[in-house]
Amino acid sequence: MEKFCEMLKTSKFVVALTGAGVSVPSGIPDFRSPNGLYAKYGQDIFEIDEFYKNPDRFYNFAKEGLIPMLSAQPNVVHHMLAKLEKAGILKGVITQNIDGLHQKAGSKNVAEIHGSVRIWNCLKCTKRYEILDDGQREFLLSTNFRCSCGGLVKPNITFFGEMLPVDEFAKAQKWAESSDLFITLGSSLVVYPAAQLPIYALRNGAKLVIVNKGETPLDRYATFKFDIDLTEFSNKILETLNTF
Ligand code: OAD
Repeated sequence: MEKFCEMLKTSKFVVALTGAGVSVPSGIPDFRSPNGLYAKYGQDIFEIDEFYKNPDRFYNFAKEGLIPMLSAQPNVVHHMLAKLEKAGILKGVITQNIDGLHQKAGSKNVAEIHGSVRIWNCLKCTKRYEILDDGQREFLLSTNFRCSCGGLVKPNITFFGEMLPVDEFAKAQKWAESSDLFITLGSSLVVYPAAQLPIYALRNGAKLVIVNKGETPLDRYATFKFDIDLTEFSNKILETLNTF
């Protein structure tokens, strides 16, 4: 940990890539852990063909699996990353998460490469809904995710079978290629093209640090791998940050 903090201090362009594990301490389950979303709802819940075939199956999941994200609060992992950015140590956070918790914690430079659960679009009249308060959340639930025109509203998140948001991914790729230290936190690193980002960083000479409970396919390329709880890791970084 001391060596990693030294690396943080001396690096010039530090970038973080976060996954579902960073929001687990905020009460949002991840995907692939034994009690994750896929074990409960099935692997195909985010497949676009399945959504069009059976939207109500997705909406039943959304009531339990997506709507609560809108009222979740950031935890120490999000706060630690926001503090590192404020201190001028971290350039930006690339996130696969759709919960908006990095921004709620105060991070300014965030690339949301899988979209956001805050934005929903009508598939018929294209009306855009930004869910900012309880009233708008209630509207989604009370209309069973139907627009005022009767069309289905779909969250602006990337389903399997859809393109990633082009601008956000381009920004993420640029940060990865510019980085000299690339840190991944709470991701199994099995979903592409997100898992390609650490590889772009490595190819450009960056050091890779992985913080994740459990193995990832990129562990062997990491200078340091911390197989520990992210809350414990973040508290240690915050303690050390005071001495920077
Ligand atoms: P995963 O569920 O695949 O991986 C989360 C990782 O975080 C797992 O390896 C956990 O062991 C680890 N983890 C959970 N809690 C932790 C904690 N407190 N401390 C340390 N590690 C912890 O989630 P992602 O890698 O984010 O995409 O998944 C990537 C993408 O797959 C998601 O963005 C989503 C999903 O399908 C789309 O929906 C397009």
